[in-house]
Amino acid sequence: MIIEPRMRGFICLTAHPEGAAQNVKQQIAYVKSKGEINGAKKVLVIGASTGFGLSSRITSAFGSNAATIGVFFEKPASEGKTASPGWYNSAAFEKEAHAAGLYAKSINGDAFSKEVKQEVIDLIKADLGQVDLIVYSLASPVRMHPETGVLHRSALKPIGQTFSNKTVDFHTGKVSEVSIAPAVEEDIENTVTVMGGEDWAMWIDALKAAGVLADGALTVAYSYIGPSLTEAVYRKGTIGRAKDHLEATAFEITDKLKDIHGKAYVSVNKALVTQASSAIPVIPLYISLLYKTMKEMGLHEGTIEQIQRLYAERLYTGGDVPLDDKGRIRIDDWEMRDDVQAKVAELWKEADTDNLAQIGDLEGYRKDFYNLFGFDYSNVDYKADTNEMVNVESIK
Ligand code: NAI
Ligand code: NA
Repeated sequence: MIIEPRMRGFICLTAHPEGAAQNVKQQIAYVKSKGEINGAKKVLVIGASTGFGLSSRITSAFGSNAATIGVFFEKPASEGKTASPGWYNSAAFEKEAHAAGLYAKSINGDAFSKEVKQEVIDLIKADLGQVDLIVYSLASPVRMHPETGVLHRSALKPIGQTFSNKTVDFHTGKVSEVSIAPAVEEDIENTVTVMGGEDWAMWIDALKAAGVLADGALTVAYSYIGPSLTEAVYRKGTIGRAKDHLEATAFEITDKLKDIHGKAYVSVNKALVTQASSAIPVIPLYISLLYKTMKEMGLHEGTIEQIQRLYAERLYTGGDVPLDDKGRIRIDDWEMRDDVQAKVAELWKEADTDNLAQIGDLEGYRKDFYNLFGFDYSNVDYKADTNEMVNVESIK
């Protein structure tokens, strides 16, 4: 079929397999260009198909020649309907990994469930014996709790008071005022249940009990802080409570891993265009001003540059892992630099519909967004008839 982007609100309903393959190839080329990383050799990535998780899988495989198991929740193609982007990314990743002689298998299912955890444990036992790095990179709006069967929905809301600020519809470039009503207690609880650390701890407990964690195993999950501009809706909002919980969970997991000399880390990453972040009001305007500023200063990074730096300069230097005063890894250090934030704050005051295309990187935002779905790659022929029925090699 001829595959074109079809937008509905902030999501794209179609994805392009050739563009997804370009995305994966470019990330692989970047990691290879930076040289070998003395990292983990048997790696489990939970949330491996898009965003930071995909870049983690690529960095492990092509930076450290690691065997990888990837877990994700994606849709294969069906007659006349494309697969979801993460499906095509994973198909392309496995193809490249297998061609390079690397072990790579994937499990498509609900990572929050007991069944998928058991499937992963069985696969590790059968093929790898143990794993020495577990990357936890899930982003989901819902979680079916495995003990209660209750379906929890996260809410992206401020806490305590209505938050009003500017936002942009990045499709039209229209800057407008948005007001978000405060969360009720239940919103906070639900968001912590979905995006907090409980499931991460459940994964590590299950893997440990099954004896599939290697001595000295590391696990890392991703968090975000951001500036005071977005604080009310992010770090001091419902999602921030979930990140507080995730960060606290790292210490609990480290305690439980003492006997096998394991450690859990949270890495605070940079704000980037992903499917998850595009859905949060205010954040797209911030990102478009941040991109403009960081590109001008030569500091811009995407997910692959971030994760390559996380591995090479934080986790696997051979020395101690550098941490902030709250015990977190910081690869948002360039985003949070005083000169970067001062510039963004100045631009924020001025930003309106008329000037955003000049003072912000709307074009860069849109390109990144289209790229997530495999569109807007210069070397893909989007007019060509394309086979949408692409398989992930390890999934039967
Ligand atoms: P993403 O949406 O690109 O990736 C989410 C991944 O989770 C995909 O692989 C998806 O298939 C998988 N997934 C979702 N629900 C699942 C389920 N029930 N079972 C199995 N897999 C499931 O998200 P992104 O942005 O890479 O986020 C990953 C982490 O990084 C999140 O914790 C997020 O808060 C954090 N982060 C994101 C930042 C951003 O600006 N995008 C900044 C800093 C941290
Ligand atoms: Na991810």
